[in-house]
Amino acid sequence: MSVKDITKVKHTLFMCNGSCCNKAGAEEMILTLRKEIRDQGLFKEIHTVRTKCIGRCDDAAVVFIQPECIWYKCVTKEDAKKIVYDHILNGKLVEANFLYKEGDTIINSDAIPNAK
Ligand code: FES
Repeated sequence: MSVKDITKVKHTLFMCNGSCCNKAGAEEMILTLRKEIRDQGLFKEIHTVRTKCIGRCDDAAVVFIQPECIWYKCVTKEDAKKIVYDHILNGKLVEANFLYKEGDTIINSDAIPNAK
C-alpha cells in the first residue's frame, strides 16, 4: 500500500487500460509513460491512474490529462514519450494524438458519438 503526497501533484494522467485500449497496446504504453516519468524525476508531481474504459474505444489507446482537460488518442509507447517531453515538460500539445479539450465543441476523431 502506498501513500502519495498529492499536495505536490501538478498533473494527473488517466490512462485507459480497458479491453480496446489494451488491444491497441495500452499496457506497453502505460509502462513506458510511467518509466519516462520516473526517469525524468517527475514522480512526485505527476500522478498516473489506470482506468477501465473511458468511453472512446475507437480512439484507443486513450490518455486523459488533468488539470488541462486534454484527451489524447491512439497513444503508443513512442507517443507516451512525446507526452512526457512535449506536454508535461514543455507545455506543448502533442498535435498528432490530440483528441479533445474539454469545453471544445469538436472532437478530433472519425468516431462520431451516438446521437441518442
Ligand atoms: S477501452 Fe479505452 S476507451 Fe474504451
